[in-house]
Amino acid sequence: MSPLRRKILVSSALPYANGSIHMGHLVEYLQTDIWVRFQKLRGHTCTYVCASDAHGTPIMLKARELGISPQDLTEKISAEFIRDFSDFGIEFDNFYTTHSPENETLVADIYGKLRDSGDIYTRTIEQSYDEKEGMFLPDRFVRGTCPVCKSADQYGDACEVCGATYSPEDLIEPLSVLSGTPPVKRESEHYFFKLSEYGDRLREWMESAALDKNMLAKLEEWFETGLQDWDISRDAPYFGFKIPGTSDKYFYVWLDAPVGYMASFKNLCDRDARLDFDEYWSADSDTELYHFIGKDIMYFHTLFWPAVLIGSGYRTPTSVFAHGFLTVNGQKMSKARGTFINGRAYLDHLNPNHLRYYYAAKLGPTIEDIDLNLDDFIARVNSDLVGKLVNIASRCAGFISKRFDGELADALENEELFASFANSAEQIAEHYENREYSKAMRMVMTLADNANRYIDEYKPWLMIKDENQTEAVQAVCTQGLNMFRSLMIYLAPVIPSVAESARSFLNEERWHWDNAATPLLGTSINKFKPLLTRVEPEQVKAMVEQSKGSLTPTADAAPAEQDDNISIDDFMKVDLRIARIEKAEPVEGADKLLALTLNVGDSTRNVFAGIKAAYDPATLVGRHVIVVANLAPRKMRFGVSEGMVLAAGPGGEDIFLLSPDAGAKPGMRVK
Ligand code: MSP
Ligand code: ZN
Repeated sequence: MSPLRRKILVSSALPYANGSIHMGHLVEYLQTDIWVRFQKLRGHTCTYVCASDAHGTPIMLKARELGISPQDLTEKISAEFIRDFSDFGIEFDNFYTTHSPENETLVADIYGKLRDSGDIYTRTIEQSYDEKEGMFLPDRFVRGTCPVCKSADQYGDACEVCGATYSPEDLIEPLSVLSGTPPVKRESEHYFFKLSEYGDRLREWMESAALDKNMLAKLEEWFETGLQDWDISRDAPYFGFKIPGTSDKYFYVWLDAPVGYMASFKNLCDRDARLDFDEYWSADSDTELYHFIGKDIMYFHTLFWPAVLIGSGYRTPTSVFAHGFLTVNGQKMSKARGTFINGRAYLDHLNPNHLRYYYAAKLGPTIEDIDLNLDDFIARVNSDLVGKLVNIASRCAGFISKRFDGELADALENEELFASFANSAEQIAEHYENREYSKAMRMVMTLADNANRYIDEYKPWLMIKDENQTEAVQAVCTQGLNMFRSLMIYLAPVIPSVAESARSFLNEERWHWDNAATPLLGTSINKFKPLLTRVEPEQVKAMVEQSKGSLTPTADAAPAEQDDNISIDDFMKVDLRIARIEKAEPVEGADKLLALTLNVGDSTRNVFAGIKAAYDPATLVGRHVIVVANLAPRKMRFGVSEGMVLAAGPGGEDIFLLSPDAGAKPGMRVK
């Protein structure tokens, strides 16, 4: 049934080898694994590669702090990754490391080609330098007072209070995070890649890649700001690959990391004669290549990476699939609340299939964030997987094994009903293909409801009491088990080990997607063993308790680990006001922005708002909106913005201004 056999290469982003896999990461690795398993079940050749991202300053410093070499650190963490992933049923065809000879060779080759075609140049730049530590400081390793809003203790690249972006040199009273001493400015020669010259070629790629519309909106924004050349070098000391022909310059980790996708595949090709590196990576390849990533690393995957591939004569990705971020109970993961949950803490208490199903039931193809609500998790998994799905089998299996010696009937009791299961195959497959997992799960559960309703109508447990109905019981239970079987085939990518047990219970060698359309009749099956147990609230509680205690903070705490709740006092500082739009005009050179003149009662303000795709400026005049009236003025490329208009929606055309009631007057406070 499956048309031609596709050749597909798939990657997930390479996790940094300086921390543990947590519930946020798992969104990505499970999303990818489900897609890959689905493709394999359909009979395609699909290869899933990944690796540890081993290079960069944070890893170098973490190793130094632990008194071990960066190699030792990353090897130890990689081994942990491999164990965690495998226990979640994530099945890579290869999990490698970026600190590999294959990667070093490929990076040197790519760099050589870029240099030969004139895409690399050097320029001396000034950077913050820690004299005590004897090293240049990445922006995140300098902290000081924000030059715009004067908030204390902000990172060197952006202010978390007012959102301004700047460079560490602009900070007031900057200090090195490493030594606590004020950094000095020091010059150094850096290597740059001419990304600025790739605009047209990248646009061409973008159009072919059929990216999600929110990703496209983001790219448009970046094109609008203008593509900047990319600084691809770092000074020693650095853990990475040395730039050929230099003695103390290294490739920036983000240059060699995506090449790690190729290197992991290369390493696999060298072991597996069926795979040919050039067939997948040459510019004229007719295989497919997809990168699954989080929305935070889109710039690297949709601009730098395709440009580097184009420039060095390789093929570009068929598409890049970005997902959103995970929140737990509606908030960023937090150690204090015990919702910063490591994969291992989950595995210590819960069944991986439960999480796989829950994420699948929530995942769509967009960059919208997804929430793991722990109460909803318990309810959903128990009701869908245990209450609906497994229940079908447990209500039918006993009769077949006890009364019919494990033999299924020769014919279905209701062919039409089975056909409705068989005929859903293509629709469900399409949902998987488009990463509409939540839609696929909804279809499967609707069918499961139908199967349970069927069993409820016949009540084989009553029929069996009537001797004249014995044969009918066999037919009804055969019908029930066949509906169960089709659903298990559809769910095999999501709950693989449960599907495995179901398959061996049904006494079949292997499953292919198409098997779901043909019933299993007249064969003998094995004794039924419970396939899944319920999630108990105590298990979840224990996991949360464990996550509160055992985590040791790392020197380079990822932003996601921070508890960023604001207090009611913080909230009271926000001055929300009703404003009337007096004027709304497009901004020359900005596709997204409108320049608004707002009447906030006592004064007028100029505010730039990214709502042009959603509103015709002419329809906005006279309309009331809510603004943050006490936001520090921000200098933008087109002028100063003196506030912020509140709106709802994911962006692009889907932005909704919340208009207050007719009685609203400009200047009125909103709370
Ligand atoms: N090393 C880089 C990727 C290099 S790819 C050539 C990196 N590593 S990471 O460990 O920080 O993240 C790995 C992946 O996990 C990224 O795609 C990231 O978006 C994803 N996630 C990390 N935290 C996440 C959440 N809280 N929620 C969802 N995905 C998250 O970035
Ligand atoms: Zn600020």
